[in-house]
Amino acid sequence: MKGVILAGGLGTRLHPLTKVTNKHLLPVYDQPMIYYPLQTLCTAGIREVMLVTGGNSAGDFLRLLGNGADFGLRGIYYAYQQGEGGIADALRLCEHFADGHRIAVILGDNIFQRSIEPVVRRFAEQPSGARILLKEVEELQRFGVPVFDGERIVAVEEKPARPKSPFAVTGLYMYDERVFDFIRSLAPSARGELEIADVNNCYIRDGDLEYDVLEGWWSDAGTFESLFHAGELIAREKLRVRQQMDRQ
Ligand code: G1P
Repeated sequence: MKGVILAGGLGTRLHPLTKVTNKHLLPVYDQPMIYYPLQTLCTAGIREVMLVTGGNSAGDFLRLLGNGADFGLRGIYYAYQQGEGGIADALRLCEHFADGHRIAVILGDNIFQRSIEPVVRRFAEQPSGARILLKEVEELQRFGVPVFDGERIVAVEEKPARPKSPFAVTGLYMYDERVFDFIRSLAPSARGELEIADVNNCYIRDGDLEYDVLEGWWSDAGTFESLFHAGELIAREKLRVRQQMDRQ
């Protein structure tokens, strides 16, 4: 399976921090934000990654990540998203890279405590379709939120005023090769973007979307509060691991 990291956007919710640099280059505790999703893909066994960036400081990603060898990657490829077309529009740029393979897509500001390897494995066992990862959170209005009929997801609503379940759709999406046809069929949302929620709704309409509920913590880092919170979670996690090693 190939990996995609979406790290574009202007990061306006983090102004003035993002006026001269890209959001995903900002520090989260002791590492640049982009390291976390990259490590998440690597520890799940993914060895080829495409990074889509845009806006400010695109060249700095190359300086920071090089050819990906330091992360154990076979290769890292770069794409540049012009304008603000949304997450699904950024993903569109990866069609040649995916080349008919299944892909694991992660948003560049998403930080997961634990390995996603079990989720990737379950997706590999799926005959076709998509797989998403849910987490119960507060502040649901900031996220994509699934609507359930029993155990089945019947829709994903993007930033709903009245969320219909207690779960956020995290920024980890696994897709089969049909994803690019689905993106081509999308129309821009009210905010003028091609929404990733609508890609998931295409799979739902085909009866081909599976999900897992995430164990361990998860945070995005796209607002001041979540950026600060993500730093605290990482600091606490690193302390916990250090103390555990000291005890052994
Ligand atoms: C994006 C997605 C949203 C998802 C979230 C996860 O929102 O549109 O569906 O729940 O990432 O981090 P954004 O952070 O771009 O507002």
